[in-house]
Amino acid sequence: MIKNFSSLGDSQIQECLNNKSLKIGVVGIGRIGLPTALCFVDSGFETIGIDINKKLVDMVNFGNYPLKDEPGFDKIFENAYNNKKITATTDISEAIPNCDIMILSLPTPMNDQNIPDYTALLTVGKNLNRLLSNGKIIIVESTVEPGFIENELLQSIEGQDRSIKSGIDFHLAVCPENANPGEIMNNFKKLPRLVSAIDERISSIVSQIYAHVFNVELISMPNCKTANAVKLTTNVFRDINIAFISELSLMFEKLGIDTMKVLDAAKKKYNFQVHYPGAGVGGPCLPINSYQLLNSAKRAGVKLSMIESGRKINEKMPDHVLELTSDAFKESSKSLQNSDILILGVSYKPNVKDTQLSPAEKIIKKLQNLGTNVHVYDPYFSSENVFGIKVEDNLDDIIPKMDAAIIVTAHDDFKKIKISSFAKMKSPILIDTRGIIDPSSAKIEKVIFRGLGRGNS
Ligand SMILES: NC(=O)c1ccc[n+]([C@@H]2O[C@H](COP(=O)([O-])OP(=O)(O)OC[C@H]3O[C@@H](n4cnc5c(N)ncnc54)[C@H](O)[C@@H]3O)[C@@H](O)[C@H]2O)c1
Repeated sequence: MIKNFSSLGDSQIQECLNNKSLKIGVVGIGRIGLPTALCFVDSGFETIGIDINKKLVDMVNFGNYPLKDEPGFDKIFENAYNNKKITATTDISEAIPNCDIMILSLPTPMNDQNIPDYTALLTVGKNLNRLLSNGKIIIVESTVEPGFIENELLQSIEGQDRSIKSGIDFHLAVCPENANPGEIMNNFKKLPRLVSAIDERISSIVSQIYAHVFNVELISMPNCKTANAVKLTTNVFRDINIAFISELSLMFEKLGIDTMKVLDAAKKKYNFQVHYPGAGVGGPCLPINSYQLLNSAKRAGVKLSMIESGRKINEKMPDHVLELTSDAFKESSKSLQNSDILILGVSYKPNVKDTQLSPAEKIIKKLQNLGTNVHVYDPYFSSENVFGIKVEDNLDDIIPKMDAAIIVTAHDDFKKIKISSFAKMKSPILIDTRGIIDPSSAKIEKVIFRGLGRGNS
């Protein structure tokens, strides 16, 4: 029977948890939603995934685990599938009436003007209006601006005529997700979670449920907007610090100082938190989260100049990669035009298969505009088409055909490439944007080397 959380006490909730009688619906079973659904399944709860992506839904229903770069969950998925404990559907109307708890793990991207786009949450909110009754709980794990839950989302669920009411027909809570792609299993076991709800009683019920499933510290926040502010603050802190180090590294290059050596020593100081320079900041979190706070600032009539500057610096870093490349070509007296350049890594971060807002895309476009032939190698995308280019499947075969290589992503696989392999390139020119190559080894192999932020110290 569907539970009415408006009237359940702590001991009744505990009973539901002990006898696994809660049914969970996870709306959006992507990078975050599917692992979340699997954790509930693993704790013994009947769970259904709801997603508009039919291909993804079919993969789940046919036992084909979609997140190959998320170690640990493959086994849970296999078990859940074999025991018929996980199913998925594209039909939200069919799924929701049978669920007690709905977790929304929907995307919150931005448009090409960098304006946050909450269409997925608002569309689902509108759908929920005709599907909710009886005091069910909706928990939003998506990253949103402070105030979005209490205002826009609440209104979309209640409807203009307030045909259903928060606190009676449904309860709205948040638990903003903090996990890091590629490490979600580990993060789910260790990272504290923030919890809040429109009404305090529901916040405590959500904490009770999440403590049961995740066994991590639950931090109770005074309201949803404060919980969402924490999530954005932690990520934007990283975006700004990466910009600070990247900008500094441009000066260190000119001063003949190796940024990696600076950071190796600086991180030994007790209160220095290391961030690394690079070709740019991508992914579904940091850049968007900065623009989410900038959007909040605009609405509040304030200016967040540090975030604005940080974004400008991070977005200019691909231009610097082009400068380093062009400088190295000058040293080899080769023309960039018609040269063959290999991009190593298209993912926005190491060891995951994800190209969302990856700086690789900008670098590739800029190189193509200069008339170069761009080739790509990335072990996570072998033989697939990425940014209009077929990804090479054999590094040893492609390297000797190249004039230059640019390391854009610090995949572990790239750290294992011997510098002597790069020496087999036609020119040979190597640009390292991630600080993984020792410049002195490049010199020994007579490779023309440029490292982002690596002055010759
Ligand atoms: N990926 C991360 O690193 C990360 C980390 C922490 C938090 N988050 C946040 O979690 C949220 C989800 O991110 P993600 O990376 O899992 O996104 P994702 O794109 O991997 O997954 C979202 C899923 O939602 C589905 N979807 C879109 N619109 C839908 C609709 N109307 N109805 C049903 N399903 C719909 C998509 O098909 C997709 O499968 C975002 O707000 C993101 O900012 C992401």
